[in-house]
Amino acid sequence: MKPSLRPPARGKRWLALLAVLLALLPGAAVRAEYGDVVLNNWSQKNGMRPVIFPHWFHRERFRCKVCHTELGFKLQAGADDMDMADIINGKFCGACHNGKIAWSVEHCGLCHSGKPGLSTGIMSGGTSQGPGIF
Ligand code: HEC
Ligand code: HEC
Ligand code: HEC
Repeated sequence: MKPSLRPPARGKRWLALLAVLLALLPGAAVRAEYGDVVLNNWSQKNGMRPVIFPHWFHRERFRCKVCHTELGFKLQAGADDMDMADIINGKFCGACHNGKIAWSVEHCGLCHSGKPGLSTGIMSGGTSQGPGIF
């Protein structure tokens, strides 16, 4: 074995492992790549269409950690118990949909765009008929 092929020092091995993991990430996430998150814990019970959250559209614009660390969105569709009061008060979607970072909550139909009857979970854009078709 040539010296240059020696396994890197411990610290660097971690870096290499990290690089491999990062390289795998897009592949690992492929299943959800075109996925819309359908949120219907409360909407239809309260007379609104289910919410379609186009995940990929948002992932292209923001780092994962903005939502999943800083804003605290859980990594499971439907896991966050969101209601409209929270959102209007700047939590969850309302952290951005406030008329500054993105259009504000008065555009009900842009979020509540799902076909009645959809249940909370991940769907491909084509079947959810939400705006998140790419
Ligand atoms: C604009 C905000 C936002 C960004 C950016 C974002 N996510 Fe999400 N993500 C969400 C929301 C909202 C949910 C659904 C949470 C809920 O319903 O409580 C979700 C759900 C998920 C889920 C769960 C899907 C399932 O099968 O239930 C995974 C995995 C995920 N995100 C990974 C990522 C990764 C990886 C990135 C970065 C490449 C990312 N997210 C970027 C908002 C975001
Ligand atoms: C980190 C900021 C951020 C968060 C959090 C966020 N959004 Fe958005 N969202 C945006 C931005 C920016 C746009 C693009 C606005 C524009 O085009 O003017 C957008 C656009 C959208 C669109 C339109 C997509 C399209 O195809 O044009 C929908 C629908 C949407 N958001 C729903 C949601 C819902 C539902 C949530 C909460 C579950 C949410 N968003 C949370 C920033 C965010
Ligand atoms: C930025 C996205 C977004 C917009 C815009 C939006 N909502 Fe919501 N809304 C949500 C999300 C996410 C939930 C929780 C979804 C669920 O689990 O059912 C929700 C839930 C609700 C609920 C059920 C929970 C509760 O608070 O009673 C009602 C009713 C509701 N929205 C009404 C509205 C009305 C009316 C408007 C327009 C004035 C509106 N929403 C605009 C994202 C949005």
